[in-house]
Amino acid sequence: MQDIHQRLEQMRAAARLGGGDKRIAAQHAKGKLTARERLELLLDEGSFEEWDMFVEHRCTDFGMQDQKVPGDGVVTGYGMINGRLVFVFSQDFTVFGGALSEAHAEKICKVMDQAMKVGAPVIGLNDSGGARIQEGVASLGGYAEVFQRNVMASGVIPQISLIMGPCAGGAVYSPAMTDFIFMVKDSSYMFVTGPEVVKTVTHEEVTAEELGGASTHTGKSGVADLAFDNDVEALLMLRRFFNYLPLNNKDGVPVRPSGDAPERLDHSLDTLVPENPNKPYDIKELILKTVDDGDFFELQPEYAKNIVIGMARMAGRTVGIVANNPLVLAGCLDIKSSIKAARFVRFCDAFSIPVITFVDVPGFMPGTSQEYGGIIKHGAKLLYAYAEATVPKITVITRKAYGGAYDVMASKHLRGDVNFAWPNAEIAVMGAKGAVEIIFREEKKDPAKLAAREAEYKARFANPFVAGARGFIDDVIQPHETRKRICRSLAMLKDKKLENPWRKHGNIPL
Ligand code: HXC
Repeated sequence: MQDIHQRLEQMRAAARLGGGDKRIAAQHAKGKLTARERLELLLDEGSFEEWDMFVEHRCTDFGMQDQKVPGDGVVTGYGMINGRLVFVFSQDFTVFGGALSEAHAEKICKVMDQAMKVGAPVIGLNDSGGARIQEGVASLGGYAEVFQRNVMASGVIPQISLIMGPCAGGAVYSPAMTDFIFMVKDSSYMFVTGPEVVKTVTHEEVTAEELGGASTHTGKSGVADLAFDNDVEALLMLRRFFNYLPLNNKDGVPVRPSGDAPERLDHSLDTLVPENPNKPYDIKELILKTVDDGDFFELQPEYAKNIVIGMARMAGRTVGIVANNPLVLAGCLDIKSSIKAARFVRFCDAFSIPVITFVDVPGFMPGTSQEYGGIIKHGAKLLYAYAEATVPKITVITRKAYGGAYDVMASKHLRGDVNFAWPNAEIAVMGAKGAVEIIFREEKKDPAKLAAREAEYKARFANPFVAGARGFIDDVIQPHETRKRICRSLAMLKDKKLENPWRKHGNIPL
């Protein structure tokens, strides 16, 4: 009996050692933690329940029958983050470079299946050389099994990927289908084809970092949401982010009571918007002064900065924030910002997170690059996302809401529940200057006359009361009471029920 206990401990110790001391040292030398060290940081102390520690691959080609490592290059199981359940897998680069075998994929699928049954998020820590080359198509099959589960889990449980090493080839498509991708700077990269293949096919010389490093994907491609300096920071921030998320699509948002009074006023907001309508200001100041404790978890801060998205809490409950930022491109909607915000709104809607939208938008970005790039289809994504969303939607127009962009940004017409405007808001088809230049074209030669027309147009339309008269705006509010009015609206909307008509699925303009 004693022998069996001892043997178990020896087997466990062997599994915990992964690819062995030498490879662990190599991992550390790269500034990376091991798969298990990462889980220790991610999960509450002592909460990790490991599964499938003794799983081995079944490959017999290329001498693989003599190279078996218990666990087969991925550590899987479940644990807690601040007392809330989460399923995890953490790829172990010290075992065959974290490459995915059929058995490795089965382990990932097992935790994903269980997470779906109990309704808890899945976090994947990716650090892998891709398909286990010795296994060939068995490995490809394994990937596809994971992909299928990613899709089935989408909108049911939150899925988060943290890329902490290589993630290349078709392997990128599993993280791509998860809700959020975080990366570690200088030690992680993602690309469909690596620098060597790129050089052969397109003759471009590019490093792995330039092609698919964290700054590329958070700044240029928009594939990743956030980049962190090292493993420790990434894991700790992931724990923070997790606190905002519901466990599943029926769970409702988590509540974290705050000492920040819902009725708190902030008089500094009364002077946030400059008198000159063409002068920019930072919309993040409004966000920070409105949400609980100034605590805003921004996503994709380096990408399409003309729109700001992220998680916050109001009166203790998670909300999603979307805000045009006049500081960048005057807050225009363009292709990138539309896609960025649309995906975020859909995440919030899938998981019953109310959406708060701050609007200061002069319109859609003009130009051939936008039109050739398909702004029509991409802008429609955001329109579609807002229109289909059934979660509580609260909108505050701080300044401009012009043209089609007015409609798109969670307007009353797209089933906005509560639509506020600040007193200086301008809700119109377009700015006064552009408008009079079109409708009084013949007076263009006479600047004085045109100026008078502009002033007339401004007085008539550049205010929130025309929209207010039609009920498109529920109330014109003082900037300093923004938090109070949003918190009251959220409380009123807490039990909102709205269902879209039955259909297999809609056809969002992809
Ligand atoms: C089996 C692999 C492996 C793989 C790495 N290893 N990748 N074993 N299958 N895909 C092994 C190495 O042989 C080595 O074993 C150990 O892992 C560490 O690898 P190193 O090369 O020493 O590490 P490093 O220098 O850091 O380079 C990491 C790497 C490189 C850039 C990931 O290993 C690499 O290029 N690997 C191949 C990547 C690849 O082509 N994968 C297939 C992509 S196609 P020892 O015993 O020496 O320690 C794909 C399709 C998926 O993934 C399709 C899904 C639909």
